[in-house]
Amino acid sequence: MTLANAPAGEESGAPLPTVISADAISRRVRELGVEISAAYTDREPVLVLVLHGAFIFAADLARALTAGYQVESLALASYHGRESSGQVQVVKDLGCEIAGRDVLIVEDIVDTGRTAAAALALLESRDPRSIEVVALLDKPSRRVIEVNPRWVGFEIEDVFVVGYGLDLDGRFRGLPYIASADALDLKGDS
Ligand code: IMP
Repeated sequence: MTLANAPAGEESGAPLPTVISADAISRRVRELGVEISAAYTDREPVLVLVLHGAFIFAADLARALTAGYQVESLALASYHGRESSGQVQVVKDLGCEIAGRDVLIVEDIVDTGRTAAAALALLESRDPRSIEVVALLDKPSRRVIEVNPRWVGFEIEDVFVVGYGLDLDGRFRGLPYIASADALDLKGDS
């Protein structure tokens, strides 16, 4: 078995400490679904899934929405290991025009704010009718660029978290809960 497909929680040899349980995530995602659906009554927003960390959150959130929606994805790269490089590159762009559309950017976590700010700047320049951000997690203490997501699942402390789509160098995305990776001793990690 490789690390990439090891059962949830076994990649490090011991379970990682839970920061947010699977039940708490599921309850909060359902609440977000209700709030967001109410904001987009009679509209069909373009959900812009920011790859790759948001893919599990976006899949659950989309199923909690009662409003219709279109799904697109955007891949931005800024992270290597635990530290942001400070540069954000567009790795994969949207596959549709968004002029005149309601756009909802779906982020896994807003940390320094660079990725969300870059996504907002890129998509705002294309004249959408509206643009908002929903982030599963928000680490406001780490912000270097002001970004205020309209919807946030959970505000967390300055802890490096993994699971529910979030990774550390490609690992731990499949954990069903959000865990702290701060105790991991990852040799060679930058
Ligand atoms: P930002 O540009 O610093 O706000 O970071 C945005 C991206 O960095 C997120 O979309 C995540 O993919 C990644 N990131 C930031 N903090 C964490 C974390 O605690 N765990 C896993 N990924 C993170």
